[in-house]
Amino acid sequence: MTPLRIDILTTFPEVFSADPPAFLGASIPARARRAGLVEWRAFNLRDHTRDKHQKTDDRPFGGGPGMVMTCQPVWEAVHAVEAIDPRPATRILLTPQGRPLRQGLVEELAIKPRLLLIAGHYEGIDERVVERLKPQEVSIGDYVLSGGEAAALVLMDAVIRLLPGALGHEGSASEDSFSMLPGESIRLLDCPHYTKPREWMGMAVPGVLLSGDHGEIARWRLDQRRARTRERRPDLLNP
Ligand code: ADE
Repeated sequence: MTPLRIDILTTFPEVFSADPPAFLGASIPARARRAGLVEWRAFNLRDHTRDKHQKTDDRPFGGGPGMVMTCQPVWEAVHAVEAIDPRPATRILLTPQGRPLRQGLVEELAIKPRLLLIAGHYEGIDERVVERLKPQEVSIGDYVLSGGEAAALVLMDAVIRLLPGALGHEGSASEDSFSMLPGESIRLLDCPHYTKPREWMGMAVPGVLLSGDHGEIARWRLDQRRARTRERRPDLLNP
């Protein structure tokens, strides 16, 4: 299998470094990269500016606080980076105004051959380049980050762990929170988990988990998932 290719356009390429190990240099993304399931490369938007100060932003027309990223570096960087590889890239702009990143969208992205992530900064990017590039706009939640980099890392982590072979145990992603179980049409939260010792601070592990009855254990786990979802995230039950 050819690895999933992820290109990131950013003014902070060091955030995506795997060497020395930063966030993506540790744990599952690092292992997936070493196993050849994914490759990623960050490109500095400043390398695609035309002015001598390598400015990627300017003051907003109409006034107001903050800066706006200019069209030209984003436009040229997208085309230069896309030309490196003939496979079509799914363009994604990380922005709080985007489609919420949920597991269903993560699953859609994990089967693409190539992703191009654009991490915006400042007050956002000039709307005209968004209109022309037509990226999917994606938000990781209803809060504002100081830039799209942290959002891009979140998206990458969520996508990479779904690549076949990324997790040690093949079944584990399909039983996570928000995964759709076979025969279910809704996404449930995960059930509680326990490990040794059997008793800790006077608290015993639920007996069913020690029973060795796999059918009974599966039923208990599903009941727990349903009960937790009802209690904590009733919105998930009426998608
Ligand atoms: N950039 C700033 N805030 C963001 C968010 N919540 N999601 C994605 N990109 C962002």
